[in-house]
Amino acid sequence: MPYPPFVFASSYTPSMKNVVITGASRGIGAAIARELAGRGDNLVLAARSREALAEAAAASPNVRVHIVTADVTQRSDVERIRDEAIRVFGHVDVWINNAGRGIVRPVLALTDEDVDEMIAINVKSVLYGMQVIAPHFMERGRGHIINMSSFLARVPVATPRSAYSAAKAALNSLTANVRVDLHRTHPGIKVSLIMPGLVATEFARHARGSTGPMPPPGSSGSPMKPQTPEEVAVVVADVIDHPVAEVYTNPVSHDVAARYIADVALFESEAESRS
Ligand SMILES: NC(=O)c1ccc[n+]([C@@H]2O[C@H](COP(=O)([O-])OP(=O)(O)OC[C@H]3O[C@@H](n4cnc5c(N)ncnc54)[C@H](OP(=O)(O)O)[C@@H]3O)[C@@H](O)[C@H]2O)c1
Repeated sequence: MPYPPFVFASSYTPSMKNVVITGASRGIGAAIARELAGRGDNLVLAARSREALAEAAAASPNVRVHIVTADVTQRSDVERIRDEAIRVFGHVDVWINNAGRGIVRPVLALTDEDVDEMIAINVKSVLYGMQVIAPHFMERGRGHIINMSSFLARVPVATPRSAYSAAKAALNSLTANVRVDLHRTHPGIKVSLIMPGLVATEFARHARGSTGPMPPPGSSGSPMKPQTPEEVAVVVADVIDHPVAEVYTNPVSHDVAARYIADVALFESEAESRS
């Protein structure tokens, strides 16, 4: 059967699901939790801060929420998230690798530690997530892995994000590779990539090397307006109901990415003249 490159042929029936979300203590992850709680899903929320996780869980009093304090850069912690989820809810339907961190450092100033951290939190954490949950999904013959990437993975227009954009580009590649592999042997397992543009969260403040908010990616006059985490969460919920290979959450991203891929030099010179 030929592999469908972008849209899965699927007769998916929305129903209550057991969903694991990493990086769920604030920002986009917490917004996804609220959105899915509104549909009655059971949730496992993971992050490092127990206090913030408890607050996020309290925002969804209508559903069963289990919180797991974990550092997703540690493989054993990610295994523990899976084990806790299966112990509490019996099985997992959807695993969302959402935790991530940015950086503010141009390429020529990057240290080994900068690069190592960007890879650990934006690539290895997701690799661990995919590797720990895939055997469970294979056993069940179904399941959905959703990886949170970034528009910057496809169009690296915010140069101070450098190693973050590069790490997310690596994540895009791993996601596409595992999707093709799993589709061949376990077509009931879906793998989706989400690429938000700028989203109004505390992401910039928590970025490695941050001294405050950054200007929006691209340049002044960029057509890409910031989204709310709630808008991104609605897209993620829709991807759970109707799995696709990848999606940009911002409506203008597709056209901007197409222009970039069509002529990188022209795109860069136009961006430079706007800034
Ligand atoms: N905001 C944007 O403009 C934007 C745009 C494109 C893509 N994204 C992506 O969207 C995802 C969520 O970003 P956000 O904007 O919601 O950022 P955020 O507000 O900084 O939230 C990041 C979340 O990840 C958790 N986290 C960070 N390091 C962790 C670790 N080592 N182990 C476990 N959890 C960890 C944080 O909780 P603790 O600190 O408690 O661990 C927090 O819950 C990220 O993958 C990011 O790259 C964001």
